[in-house]
Amino acid sequence: MSAKIISGTEIAKQIREELKQEVQEMKEKHGVTPGLVTILVGENPASVSYVTAKQKTAHDLGFYSVQDNQPEDISEEELLNLIDKYNKDPKIHGILVQLPLPKHIDETKVINAIDPDKDVDGFHPVNVGRMVIGERCFLPCTPHGILEMLIRTGVETSGAEVVVVGRSNIVGKPIANLMLQKREGGNATVTVCHTRTKDMAFHTRRADILIVAAGRPKVITADMVKEGVVVIDVGVNRIGKTPEGKAILCGDVDFDGIKEKAAAITPVPGGVGPMTITMLMKNTVQAAKQFAGLA
Ligand SMILES: NC(=O)c1ccc[n+]([C@@H]2O[C@H](COP(=O)([O-])OP(=O)(O)OC[C@H]3O[C@@H](n4cnc5c(N)ncnc54)[C@H](OP(=O)(O)O)[C@@H]3O)[C@@H](O)[C@H]2O)c1
Repeated sequence: MSAKIISGTEIAKQIREELKQEVQEMKEKHGVTPGLVTILVGENPASVSYVTAKQKTAHDLGFYSVQDNQPEDISEEELLNLIDKYNKDPKIHGILVQLPLPKHIDETKVINAIDPDKDVDGFHPVNVGRMVIGERCFLPCTPHGILEMLIRTGVETSGAEVVVVGRSNIVGKPIANLMLQKREGGNATVTVCHTRTKDMAFHTRRADILIVAAGRPKVITADMVKEGVVVIDVGVNRIGKTPEGKAILCGDVDFDGIKEKAAAITPVPGGVGPMTITMLMKNTVQAAKQFAGLA
């Protein structure tokens, strides 16, 4: 068997088209333009490239978008004041602070300072709490993107054995939680593995859907999965550079080996990555609608 490739690039394109239409309608019918600010502290090259991609997408969709670059040595207090300014700005509906932040700044304090109604990254404890109990909230972008990919690809999640590798707050824990919610894209039986899991292969071999977010290249090999599994590879590992200086990326699973056994698999790049940015845009549109009383 050679797996169907789940193209995040294609699904993201489709969702962006839908969002573009929605934004145009919001502007024409209600005079509302979704506003997104991305705050970048310092010049970490990966962060610069993520923020640039987010701004470009926001611009392409017709958002009011602001790129706010701050120096590496900005104090925690100054950053908190900046967030407060955007919390109060009626043109801004979504605030994204690019992580990681320099060591002298407490990330938790920064996340908690964002108005939960503008927390389009879905990291504020209010949104996390709402997600866990199944209330309307801003879902964190990467898990939201995974959910949307599974739904749009027609993968049956109800009753499925889902195994998640990784338990971070931004991917592992929220996707595990979303997969067990009693609603579309959920209703799965979920197992979460991490570095203290005994015999990880025992769990991964049972998976109908395997979601891997370990941040370790090829941590999952073909002998660790069963025939017909659906694999979502969240990992982005920089394993070298091309002669032109471009980063060479690979995921967390052995793509070439596993694609011969799997029913479907996401590639890296072109899988979860484009979905993450798209869900940030979807959340910002939702925030603008809520702000304007349209949702
Ligand atoms: N494409 C996207 O949009 C996107 C978005 C976010 C993240 N990512 C990528 O996804 C990966 C994970 O990100 P993250 O932020 O969740 O990483 P993280 O915070 O480093 O968490 C990694 C998790 O994987 C577990 N883990 C690591 N090695 C393992 C192993 N050998 N066996 C079992 N579990 C293992 C860790 O377990 P412990 O808790 O026991 O340490 C931890 O829970 C990274 O490559 C990141 O770049 C991609």
